[in-house]
Amino acid sequence: MTSRVHRPVGTVTRGTTNPNRLRRMDRWIAATHGAELRRAADPVAVDLGYGAAPWTAVELLSRLRTVAPRTRVVGVEIDPARVAAARPYEREGLVFRHGGFEIPVPQRPHLVRAANVLRQYDEDQVAEVWQRLCARLAPASGGSRGGLLVEGTCDEIGRRHVWVALGPEGPRTVTFATRLGSLDRPSDLAERLPKALIHRNVPGEPIHTFLHDFDRAWAAAAPYASYGARQRWIRTVRTLTTTWPVTDGPTRWRQGEVTVEWGAVAPRG
Ligand SMILES: C[S@@+](CC[C@H](N)C(=O)[O-])C[C@H]1O[C@@H](n2cnc3c(N)ncnc32)[C@H](O)[C@@H]1O
Repeated sequence: MTSRVHRPVGTVTRGTTNPNRLRRMDRWIAATHGAELRRAADPVAVDLGYGAAPWTAVELLSRLRTVAPRTRVVGVEIDPARVAAARPYEREGLVFRHGGFEIPVPQRPHLVRAANVLRQYDEDQVAEVWQRLCARLAPASGGSRGGLLVEGTCDEIGRRHVWVALGPEGPRTVTFATRLGSLDRPSDLAERLPKALIHRNVPGEPIHTFLHDFDRAWAAAAPYASYGARQRWIRTVRTLTTTWPVTDGPTRWRQGEVTVEWGAVAPRG
């Protein structure tokens, strides 16, 4: 007789996390994906690789419930000790499971959030992991575009954040989000690019051109700094829209965000 052992897909990595670290990502997900979560009969969100403490999963539940009250969150971690440490924090709508990129939940999730997980993998593993995770998302149907994978990186306290959003069909957009008061220039965000882009910030690659144009627009908007960093950022992004496919508008820009189509900044070749 053979016993079936559950072998999670992936590797245990550093468990660094912090309370409130992923607030920018949570807010963006709530704003841009809340309607999809509300529409689903049984909305399930996965916090994949929540780390050494369960804070980000607890916060994801409370932030998503403000826009989609029936949402349930499953925290998935590849390190069994971190799952055991999180279990006392389970509550109505929140459970923790041992697993990896296979995502050990019976449903096709409406959201998979993987923050600061792929940064510790190799660049050439990203495409395969994305494909695997996208294949697990709830499919598009009727008026729904399907589930969303949000994969990205931030600093230890969440002041600088860049993430890619993917649907069942593949990558859609890249979002840059920052605390504006802490910013010297937009390319400060380069150190937080997701794994798929961080090694591509070199001349000849679209992401490098984008950050260069972003810095140039920021410099040109310097006179707006006297009205505050927010006004300068809004002006900067407005300039960017003339040459780059920015997909959001002033409501998000006011938060210190900008989202562009993935195809415009994707690595060459
Ligand atoms: C740096 S922590 C990030 C914690 C949290 N997401 C945050 O952003 O604060 C990365 C975590 O991802 C976990 N991890 C790495 N690969 C994984 C995989 N394939 N499936 C599930 N968890 C994984 C690691 O064990 C680690 O605890």
